[in-house]
Amino acid sequence: MKSLNNCILILLTIFSIATTAQEANYADLLQNIDAREKTSLNGKWDIIVDPLENGFYNHRLQEYDKGYFKNAKMQSPSDLIEYNFDTSLQLNVPGDWNTQMDKLYYYEGTLWYKKDFNYTPTSDQESLLYFEAVNYEAIVYLNGEKLGKHVGGYTPFQFNVTDKLVEGNNFVVVKVDNKRKKENVPTVNQDWWNYGGITRSVHLINVPKTHIEDYSVQLEKGTTNTISGWVTVANSTNGDAVSIKIPELKKTVLATLKNGKASFAINAKPNLWSPNSPKLYEAIIETSTDKVIDNIGFRNISTDGSKILVNGKETFLKGISIHEEAAFKTGRVVSVEECKVLLNWAKELGCNFLRLAHYPHSEAMVKEAEKMGFLIWSEIPVYWTIQFENQDTYANAENQLAEMISRDKNRASVILWSMANETPESESRLSFISNLAEKARELDNTRLITAALDTQGKGDDGNLIEDPLGEVVDVIGINNYCGWYYGDVDSCSSIKWASAYNKPMIMSEIGGGALYGLHGDANERWTEEYQDALFKSNIEMMKNIEFMTGLSPWILMDFRSSRRPLRRIQDDFNRKGLISEQGMKKKAFFTLQEYYLEMDEK
Ligand code: GCU
Repeated sequence: MKSLNNCILILLTIFSIATTAQEANYADLLQNIDAREKTSLNGKWDIIVDPLENGFYNHRLQEYDKGYFKNAKMQSPSDLIEYNFDTSLQLNVPGDWNTQMDKLYYYEGTLWYKKDFNYTPTSDQESLLYFEAVNYEAIVYLNGEKLGKHVGGYTPFQFNVTDKLVEGNNFVVVKVDNKRKKENVPTVNQDWWNYGGITRSVHLINVPKTHIEDYSVQLEKGTTNTISGWVTVANSTNGDAVSIKIPELKKTVLATLKNGKASFAINAKPNLWSPNSPKLYEAIIETSTDKVIDNIGFRNISTDGSKILVNGKETFLKGISIHEEAAFKTGRVVSVEECKVLLNWAKELGCNFLRLAHYPHSEAMVKEAEKMGFLIWSEIPVYWTIQFENQDTYANAENQLAEMISRDKNRASVILWSMANETPESESRLSFISNLAEKARELDNTRLITAALDTQGKGDDGNLIEDPLGEVVDVIGINNYCGWYYGDVDSCSSIKWASAYNKPMIMSEIGGGALYGLHGDANERWTEEYQDALFKSNIEMMKNIEFMTGLSPWILMDFRSSRRPLRRIQDDFNRKGLISEQGMKKKAFFTLQEYYLEMDEK
């Protein structure tokens, strides 16, 4: 009888859980790349700024094979080659180009990136070129050969380059284009800077030929004693085994692969993840050729009428909205340290909830927030008036949704998938977003679906929530700018709210602008006193909304937006932050902090 302590191998009933989720076509993404051996391609990349896309089209505007992706070099003195990456400018990757070079500050268009790297082939391995995010359209080439294209600026994508790499020097070229187009997601107008570039890290990831591609390890919906999920293994053979081990719980299960997939369920009673105790367990997924280790939290999220329950316990979401803008240096966040600056401010504010607006933030942000115990609202940039009738626009939005869910489906911190922000009511919009919600539920039935609405009507004695989208979502987000875009500041506190739905409501945006250090009377716009009075009045209003179960005021920190040109006040920044981009806390920061701390004392 093997000794009890060192390993209790419980062969648990192995049964396939025929849940639709498994059949759902998740984005073709390697799960949890942090756990992988990888070569970073970050650092200096050579660039060519190409507003006329001269490196892609010939003068007849036809795509041609002598484009900049060839990285051609003069072979003889008489050769005519009118570009040379090796003598060109350079940019840092990851990073947006707008804050790295003054002359690229307003630039929207095509910019070519080139990076050389050495590679030593290893047998029986596959190599994936993995981009964490590129805004907006990326066409990727390796050694002059096109690998493919990706659209959407905030989600990862990869290419299998195993048989395209050569021993020794290789070069990857990326044509990045952040031009705004009506059919895009987001569309042509957005209230954040259209930062262009390879904005997140790039990796060459080596995995065994037969490797663990994807998995879901979560607490089974509605239980506290069953951990279940599935694993997919590329290039596996039917009958191959995969084990899922959670050492701290002394639990191991073996599952059998069929068509590259295996499902499992483990009877276990983990300490549940929650904001007050963000407990993560090491989970080891292993096959005979591969091993992946993840740190996973187990928790339940559900609703009961207008309440949100975390692990069955009613939980009020004390939140703040955040853009992925770095403090101090501004521009896109590119490191965990920059994530932590924002997260520590949110912690200081007394938050247990973050609305990551209006697009999926980096995986590092989500993982760091999870360690700190933040509940997360994650959103795709279906923002304002996109082309709801356009099938390509829908396919693009759905793909961004699938990539977002694929990447973060094992994160206990993520409790809400948001389908959209401030979209105008129409039949096509309703079906567009309803289809997205259906897709999200197909991909992940363990989390809540939401959207931020600004369509509240006038009821008998106040604002009435009756948007037909309220029927589709599990939780209703409301953006409301009393005291800023409408109404006097003092009037807000007496506004009443009603809802046509017995569902939880999150006040996903309230707020007003203030320039840090500008002081005056509370009725003087842009002063800290005005913003502070606005928050006080809105907080009084919200205290009377019995179906409100959380809020995420707009916004933690001032952020850049080309919709904000007011000189000496905005200077290209949306000033609704509670903290300036240089880290200076405004009066309203302390008012919201007090409101949240008050709640804890109750
Ligand atoms: C909108 C929108 C935000 C925007 C904010 C504002 O509600 O969702 O993206 O920045 O209002 O006007 O400041």
